[in-house]
Amino acid sequence: MTKSRGNDVEAPPAGSAAGAGGAGGGAAEGGARTERLTKVYGTGSTAVRALDGVTVTLPGGRFTAIMGPSGAGKSTLMHCVAGLDAPTSGRVFVGGVDLGGLPDAKLTRLRRERIGFVFQAFNLLPTLTARDNILLPTTLAGAAPDREWFDTVVRTLGLGERLGHRPGQLSGGQQQRVALARALITRPEIVFADEPTGNLDSRTGTEVLALLRGSVDDLGQTVAMVTHDPAAAAHADAVVFLADGKIVDIMDAPTQDRVLDRMRGLGGAA
Ligand SMILES: Nc1ncnc2c1ncn2[C@@H]1O[C@H](COP(=O)(O)OP(=O)(O)OP(=O)(O)O)[C@@H](O)[C@H]1O
Ligand SMILES: [Mg+2]
Repeated sequence: MTKSRGNDVEAPPAGSAAGAGGAGGGAAEGGARTERLTKVYGTGSTAVRALDGVTVTLPGGRFTAIMGPSGAGKSTLMHCVAGLDAPTSGRVFVGGVDLGGLPDAKLTRLRRERIGFVFQAFNLLPTLTARDNILLPTTLAGAAPDREWFDTVVRTLGLGERLGHRPGQLSGGQQQRVALARALITRPEIVFADEPTGNLDSRTGTEVLALLRGSVDDLGQTVAMVTHDPAAAAHADAVVFLADGKIVDIMDAPTQDRVLDRMRGLGGAA
């Protein structure tokens, strides 16, 4: 266990260690971080401690992968940091804003304007076409869609032929791509993606990873991605390893082989 690395990533000013490269001035306040985050589901003998004191920084303008065995708390961490679920204790900051101190309406607005989320289970609206699902965040915000960016996202994700289909008429991989397009369409500061390549063939998966990487490098976006795939994690700037609700390691400049070795050390669950 390389505790010293943990300190690098836990350093409070999010931009200092890593984020300085891309996004410049604003980057120090970009990204997100948690302080001693715990999440307990249920009570009494059936209580599950899904997060157990997680202190981590997702630096602004950087691509962070989150890995760990099934049940480690990866989705729970993403939901709490994105303000979709309330922690039992601890704090979450997004772009320097303490989510715990926000009234519901402000939290909703922050989520809508600054965060894109790709759910593990997609969460597409079944009655809307792919096009309308993708444009939903723009519609909700009452904003005009950026036509060029819409076309770029749709082309990169290979969805051009499927825009008129509803989710029930799409394959799992196609639904995943629609969910990803919906998360990217407003160019949010932070994108949380829970296994965005899990249902994709390797070529499309590689293109999705290149799109995420490009959004970090070219737009200064912050990306946090849960994955079980060491090859996908190798596209990130750093990998946070979770097990039993705790951070057990952080790896900078990951390679597929090093990630694979580390996963084996955690007791498998690739
Ligand atoms: N709504 C819930 N109610 C009760 N327990 C929950 C709930 N959501 C998650 N858990 C439990 O919390 C723990 C962490 O779950 P979580 O979904 O965060 O894991 P994960 O790391 O994302 O796993 P996977 O790789 O399988 O998606 C698990 O033990 C899970 O059963
Ligand atoms: Mg999960």
